Amino acid sequence: MSNFKWGILGPGSIASQFAEGLKVIPDAELYAVASRRQEGLDNFKEKFDFSVGYTSYEELAKDPDVDAIYIATPHNFHYECAMLCIKYDKPVLLEKPFTLNQKDALKLINYAREKQVFMMEAMWTRFFPAMVKVRECIAAGEIGEVRFVEVDFGFRCGGNPEGRLLNANLAGGALLDVGIYTVAAAYMCLGEPSQIKAMAHIGETNVDEQTSALLGYDNGAMAVLTSAIRTNTNHELTIYGTEGSIKVPTHFWKPEYYILKKAEEEKVHCPIIGNGYNYEAIEVMNCVRSGKLESAVVPLDETCSMMGTLDKIRNEINLSYPFE
Ligand SMILES: NC(=O)c1ccc[n+]([C@@H]2O[C@H](COP(=O)([O-])OP(=O)(O)OC[C@H]3O[C@@H](n4cnc5c(N)ncnc54)[C@H](OP(=O)(O)O)[C@@H]3O)[C@@H](O)[C@H]2O)c1
Repeated sequence: MSNFKWGILGPGSIASQFAEGLKVIPDAELYAVASRRQEGLDNFKEKFDFSVGYTSYEELAKDPDVDAIYIATPHNFHYECAMLCIKYDKPVLLEKPFTLNQKDALKLINYAREKQVFMMEAMWTRFFPAMVKVRECIAAGEIGEVRFVEVDFGFRCGGNPEGRLLNANLAGGALLDVGIYTVAAAYMCLGEPSQIKAMAHIGETNVDEQTSALLGYDNGAMAVLTSAIRTNTNHELTIYGTEGSIKVPTHFWKPEYYILKKAEEEKVHCPIIGNGYNYEAIEVMNCVRSGKLESAVVPLDETCSMMGTLDKIRNEINLSYPFE
C-alpha cells in the first residue's frame, strides 16, 4: 500500500506532537506543511522532515497529493481553516474544540456532508487502547447501569495574557480548551444530557479560569465536570455504575490503565504505542481509505451535540468572545 500523505495546517505546539505521533505509523508520511510565515515552516523543518512547505493554507488545501489535512490552529480559526480544506475536497482532522459554537459546527458538518468529504474532531483520547476497553466494559454491563460520572481536567498555565489560553481574542478559557475533554468523557459514558447547570470564575482577561458543570440525564444519571487553566487538578475520570465502578486515573485523557472495581479491584494495563496521537491518525487513515465520511468513534452528530452542550454551559456562565 502506498504511503498516506498527511498535510499539517498551523505548525505550532500541538502540531509537533501530532507529527511525532505519525513517526510510529509505518505507512503514514508527513508530506506537506503550511504556515502563514516562512519562519513557521523553517522552525518545523528543523524538527521534522517533510517534502513540501507552503506559506499559504490555501496552497496546502489545493495540493492534489495530500490525502488528509490535520488542522492545528487556535480554536477560533478552526471553522475557516476546515471550510477551506473541504472546499478543495480534502479530508480533515480538526483539533478540539471542533468550532466555537454549535452554529458553526452545523454549517461545517453540512458543508462536509454536501461535498462528501471526511471530517473528524481530533478527540484523540477516545482511541487509546484503555479507553476502547473502558467502552467495552460499559457496553458489556460490567459495572451495571452508569449512574454517575466524575471527571476533571485542570492545569496551571503560565500567566501570559496574550497567549492562546488566557486571550479572549483567541477564544481562551478552560471550558473550550480542556472542558471539552470532560464533556467528551461524559458523552462517552452517558450521551447527550437533558439538563445543564454551570458555574465559572471569569478572570481578568475575561475568559473562564475555572468552570464546573453538572449534566443531568432523563434516567436520573449525572455527570460532574471540572476544568481549569490556572489550577492543577487530578485529571481523573470515574464512572460509577449500579454494579461497580471504573476509574481512569491521571491522566485520563491519555490513559495507560484503568481500575475496574467490583467485589475485587482489577488494574488493567493497556500499553501505549507512540505518543498517542498516532491512534487518531490511524482512524482517519482507515476511514479515508475505506471511503467513510466520518468516524464511528467520534461521529459528527456527537461532535455537534457536544458543541451545543458547550454553548449551554457558556450561556450559564455568561462567557462570550469579543468577535461573537
Ligand atoms: N489534542 C491535544 O492534545 C491538544 C493539545 C493542545 C492543543 N490542542 C488544540 O490545538 C489547537 C492549537 O493549539 P496550539 O497550542 O498548538 O496553538 P499554537 O501553538 O498557539 O498555534 C498553532 C498555530 O496556529 C497558527 N495560527 C493561525 N492563525 C493564528 C493567529 N491569528 N494567531 C496565532 N496562531 C495562529 C499558527 O501557525 P502559523 O503562524 O505557522 O501559520 C500557530 O503555529 C487548539 O485548538 C487546541 O485546543 C490540542
